[in-house]
Amino acid sequence: MSTTVHPAVTVCNHPLVQHNLSILRDKNTSTEQFRSTMHRLGKFILMEATADLPTTRSIVETPITKAECQVLSPDVPILIAPILRAGLILSELAIDILPTASVYHIGLYRDEETFKPVTYYNKLPSTIDYSVARVFVLDPMLATGGSAVAAVDIIKKLGTNVSNIRFASIIAAPEGIQHLTEQHPGIRIYTGSVDERLNDKAYIVPGLGDAGDRTFGTM
Ligand code: PRP
Ligand code: URA
Repeated sequence: MSTTVHPAVTVCNHPLVQHNLSILRDKNTSTEQFRSTMHRLGKFILMEATADLPTTRSIVETPITKAECQVLSPDVPILIAPILRAGLILSELAIDILPTASVYHIGLYRDEETFKPVTYYNKLPSTIDYSVARVFVLDPMLATGGSAVAAVDIIKKLGTNVSNIRFASIIAAPEGIQHLTEQHPGIRIYTGSVDERLNDKAYIVPGLGDAGDRTFGTM
């Protein structure tokens, strides 16, 4: 179940996504419950974001007879690109549903005064053909969009066409959607909610607070 609020954005409005989102938003949710809920919810969003992965025909022998099946295309490498640190929680579940994927950790944090992204780590798989890879950039929060734009810049420089990049988040702000789609036309965004706006500290309203701190218990 999904709706489109912007041509580039798919909002997963499945009742279980919305139920789990209410748990993440609740300031009284414990770190343990926050992590497990992030796992559950993230899986729904990833399922939506991976729905058009290319497949190829394969014949499999069942115990009864031959069956015509669809398998993931072996010619399309899959890359999971979590933005550290909060994106790590989404990469754990992404590896679970995409076991053949490579993982590209992108270390970015948002400067607390300028709100601009600062890159501090980049661990790039070298064996991938980026020109044909399908890339899933993972970050629970799309706020100003600065971190997302910087991550997609890095991935595009490796030779990936933007039409093969999907950005998966738990919550997005209208400002972040606008920034990301203006800087990277053709990007596709998947999220559980498009919230109202950013506050003067560039936090998403109503949002869920600081996703990294709540995931790793560093409040
Ligand atoms: C948070 C979040 C995004 C970024 C979003 O990370 O996980 O990466 O902010 O904000 P933006 O859209 O305005 O760039 P943060 O910089 O707090 O780092 P952390 O994940 O290490 O806590
Ligand atoms: N990063 C977060 O973790 N939360 C926000 O609301 C904005 C940026």
